[in-house]
Amino acid sequence: MSDSIKNPLYDAQQTAFAEKLKDMLLARHGKKPKAYIVTYGCQQNVSDSEKIKGMLHVCGYEFTDSPEDAQFILFNTCAVRGHAEDRVLGNVGAMKKHKKENPDIIIAICGCMAQQQVNADRFTKSYPYVDIIFGTQVTHRLPEFIYKRITSQKRIKELALDNEKIVENVPICRDGTFKAFVSVMYGCNNFCSYCIVPYVRGAERSRESKEIIKEVEELVAAGYKEIMLLGQNVNSYGLGLKEDINFARLLRRINEIDGDFRIRFMTSHPKDCTIELLETIRDCEKIERHLHLPFQSGSNRILKMMNRRYTRESYLSLIESAKEIIPDVTFTSDIIVGFPGETKPDFEETLSLIKQVEFLSLFTFIYSPRNGTPAAIMDDPVSREEKGEWFSRLLKLQEEIENKKREEYIGKTYRVLAEEISVKTGRLVGKSSNGIGVEFPANKNLIGEFCTVKIIGYENAFIGEIIR
Ligand code: 5AD
Ligand code: SF4
Repeated sequence: MSDSIKNPLYDAQQTAFAEKLKDMLLARHGKKPKAYIVTYGCQQNVSDSEKIKGMLHVCGYEFTDSPEDAQFILFNTCAVRGHAEDRVLGNVGAMKKHKKENPDIIIAICGCMAQQQVNADRFTKSYPYVDIIFGTQVTHRLPEFIYKRITSQKRIKELALDNEKIVENVPICRDGTFKAFVSVMYGCNNFCSYCIVPYVRGAERSRESKEIIKEVEELVAAGYKEIMLLGQNVNSYGLGLKEDINFARLLRRINEIDGDFRIRFMTSHPKDCTIELLETIRDCEKIERHLHLPFQSGSNRILKMMNRRYTRESYLSLIESAKEIIPDVTFTSDIIVGFPGETKPDFEETLSLIKQVEFLSLFTFIYSPRNGTPAAIMDDPVSREEKGEWFSRLLKLQEEIENKKREEYIGKTYRVLAEEISVKTGRLVGKSSNGIGVEFPANKNLIGEFCTVKIIGYENAFIGEIIR
């Protein structure tokens, strides 16, 4: 973990709580306290956990990978599908005995699942050993919550979701030393009918461009090589800001920052993906030639029921425009199989769309009903088994497409950011400027560096050789 703690004075009140906690925690535990953080879900959660670690560091905590060593245990949760929730419930449940044996430790739950009233109530009632429950918009008040929990003996529950202004300059302990997340906006206004995110993350709020630029400048100056811009729908960046800006113009400004670094971003909503954005990607050498463009379903009937606000035809025409405008562009996507009321012919349309686009890779999900969303009360007659069969067909088709597409990439040369050593093969593993994962034999000193790599074959992964 890099120690890139920012100005700890992000909020005078919280800094005061943190200062008081430092001495109090030392006295309470008789040593420097340790924190154990578990993060579920998307990059936004990972990014939030980096801020949580930043605040804990200011409070005097060190970090550990083992819950047994920790005096503070936090679960940053995800509510996007049932599977993620079940894992959280299981892992929090396992803390019961630990807390009984160590009553001085503090257990906290935050993130999207905590934000839902039904889950927050469940944690309050059935998990009495959970000390602090807090929602997605009050994360910056963590020092206060810990302080109040220790001094008042009362459990803390804070779920305010008032979409107030964004708190800047929260200290950050970044997990990576050369790849960094930078949020450009928070929340979502889209209300896709299956999705819990707008309810648990609140309305869209964009950060002022000067704050984003400042953060990226600092990261680049500190040697970061990949900046991943985050937002539920980055393409609607700028909404509600006083300044006259949109995502494409923000990208152009970030691209102008001096230094050798790569810009990535996710997620793009197809309905807001403009030709201006595609031309910006073409024109800016630092932006990766890859679009993560979730289409969810290939059937117009289902897209309408999902409230996605684009059609199969407009999606395909966007893909065509991107292919024309951006040489060597690749696409990835998210797909939901078995949305309520989806029929076999609807599903076949998803398959045919996949064949037409030929995605680099796919993130595929079986529909999971989310309490409180419109889709959760729609008729859902197709059995789990049948959805499972559809899902397997989808995976098989995508595998065939990936096998076929492979030939296209062999022989090509890309700029690859070396990320890590593969434990299996001992080769360096990295990503090309258009999102292709490549393994290549090279010295581990090159981790965190850009290498020019020619793809020469495929053995469970693309294999390359360094040519410069
Ligand atoms: N069921 C299944 N998948 C979902 N996603 C979001 N909500 C659900 C749900 N209720 C998927 C979508 C989204 C991705 C992040 O998670 O494909 O793009
Ligand atoms: Fe959920 Fe749709 Fe918003 Fe994505 S755009 S976070 S799928 S509501």
